[in-house]
Amino acid sequence: MANTVDANGINVAAMRKAYKGDEEVYTEDQLASRDPIVQFAAWFEEAAKNPNVGEANAMCLATSTPEGRPSARMVLLKGYSKEGFRFFTNFESRKGKEVAANPFAALCFYWEPLNRSVRIEGPVERLTDQQSSEYFHSRPRGSQIGAAVSHQSTVIEGRDVLNQREKELKEQYADETVEIPKPDYWGGFRVVPEVIEFWQGQTTRLHDRIVFRLPRAGETPDEKATHTGENGWVYERLSP
Ligand SMILES: Cc1cc2nc3c(=O)[nH]c(=O)nc-3n(C[C@H](O)[C@H](O)[C@H](O)COP(=O)(O)O)c2cc1C
Repeated sequence: MANTVDANGINVAAMRKAYKGDEEVYTEDQLASRDPIVQFAAWFEEAAKNPNVGEANAMCLATSTPEGRPSARMVLLKGYSKEGFRFFTNFESRKGKEVAANPFAALCFYWEPLNRSVRIEGPVERLTDQQSSEYFHSRPRGSQIGAAVSHQSTVIEGRDVLNQREKELKEQYADETVEIPKPDYWGGFRVVPEVIEFWQGQTTRLHDRIVFRLPRAGETPDEKATHTGENGWVYERLSP
């Protein structure tokens, strides 16, 4: 599976805005697959196609300092596979620095019209410079300039600082045939999934929670509470 286009043909990297429309509540707790990546694809497809989900690929990213002080913010999913869930950012931002010092993160999606949430946890790895460059240059030119303008998470005196720098770069790159170089401090990360939880809200408040995890060394699922999934995963139901 390509990282930017998923198994259902959805071009995740090209997603910037979803649609608006009718409402529908899903209450079934059936798994589409016992492989959590396939299960994620099924839920993500529904969220992406639901006109009432504003940005299906918006997710909350939690990072932490080595001392265990967490921080969270929204970022956009830009591709996923078993190798990881990708997002792009500034390596020198707060999150970038935290990930460099403590390379573990958690992600959380919430698709409100579907009453669904997905949580993902695992180590974080940087994408290659080539992968980051490819994605950088697939973005609208204005976004490329924005990335070059902003030293994310640094203190600035006012908005004028940004406007001035943007104006200068727009002039410098007025000729659209001239490629805007990707700043060295900008690129992608992937959160390599070790835990993926699917939460389906129920009107009774007895919500469904199915968590997939990698088995512990030597662990054999008892098939009562812990079940054998596909592709090396085990899964369990958690109390809501
Ligand atoms: C819906 C949404 C999507 C966002 N997507 C991104 C993103 O993909 N990458 C990014 O660096 N910041 C994104 N942001 C901004 C971040 O939430 C945050 O303000 C910024 O990355 C700085 O975070 P930090 O100081 O903790 O590093 C997004 C914000 C929202 C609300």
